[in-house]
Amino acid sequence: MDLGPLRKSYRRDEEAFEEQHLASRDPVRQFEVWFQEAVSCPDIGEANAMCLATCTRDGKPSARMVLLKGFGPDGFRFFTNYESRKGQELDTNPFASLVFYWEPLHRQVRIEGSVKRLPEEESESYFQSRPKGSQIGAVVSRQSSVIPDREYLRKKNAELEQQYRETRVPKPAYWGGYILQPEVVEFWQGQTNRLHDRIVFRRRPRDSSAPPGDMTHPGEGDWVLQRLAP
Ligand SMILES: Cc1cc2nc3c(=O)[nH]c(=O)nc-3n(C[C@H](O)[C@H](O)[C@H](O)COP(=O)(O)O)c2cc1C
Repeated sequence: MDLGPLRKSYRRDEEAFEEQHLASRDPVRQFEVWFQEAVSCPDIGEANAMCLATCTRDGKPSARMVLLKGFGPDGFRFFTNYESRKGQELDTNPFASLVFYWEPLHRQVRIEGSVKRLPEEESESYFQSRPKGSQIGAVVSRQSSVIPDREYLRKKNAELEQQYRETRVPKPAYWGGYILQPEVVEFWQGQTNRLHDRIVFRRRPRDSSAPPGDMTHPGEGDWVLQRLAP
């Protein structure tokens, strides 16, 4: 199928996304402003859905959607099965990249950085805050393992619903959260004339005493920012 003709031009009446229009020179605060706008946008169903890319130790990438479950100056949090494909890749190569695409706003955000497991207590308290059906869903099968058929899942689910009818579901040791600590955050704003705006924030190495360099602007804290060609 040739998708060449499937072309879309963005219609935006807003002004260009200029450096002076940034809500903040801290990328996490800037992300918060865009995220709130995405959450408030009636045409965006899951503003917190993001593509998570991980990599094997020998550089073979894989990507899938997960849900962002929290963020702050310390990083971006998501929850999954530690033994899944992504979990195994993060064990051997603890770096990942996240991509958000908010189509009605013509915005993309890319985030890259190192990833750590969240403390067990934090995963435990998030697991216990989830509805029982989702908790059972996390226990019912080993994510990313090969299973015989759908009936296997259905039966396992029914058994677990029965088993935990009266009691709380304990969090399995193989389920929990990760936090990605951002090193690079890029904001992309699509423009009608294809002169799309790209502003990238990079963390300056802690020991760097060199001036930021040409076309590099100081951000807050140890962040610097640059404009990239679209
Ligand atoms: C919108 C959306 C949100 C998802 N959120 C999660 C999530 O938060 N955690 C998760 O483990 N899987 C989530 N999934 C399923 C993953 O995309 C994926 O199928 C699963 O985690 C197994 O990935 P892996 O085999 O690469 O480890 C989501 C899927 C979609 C489409």
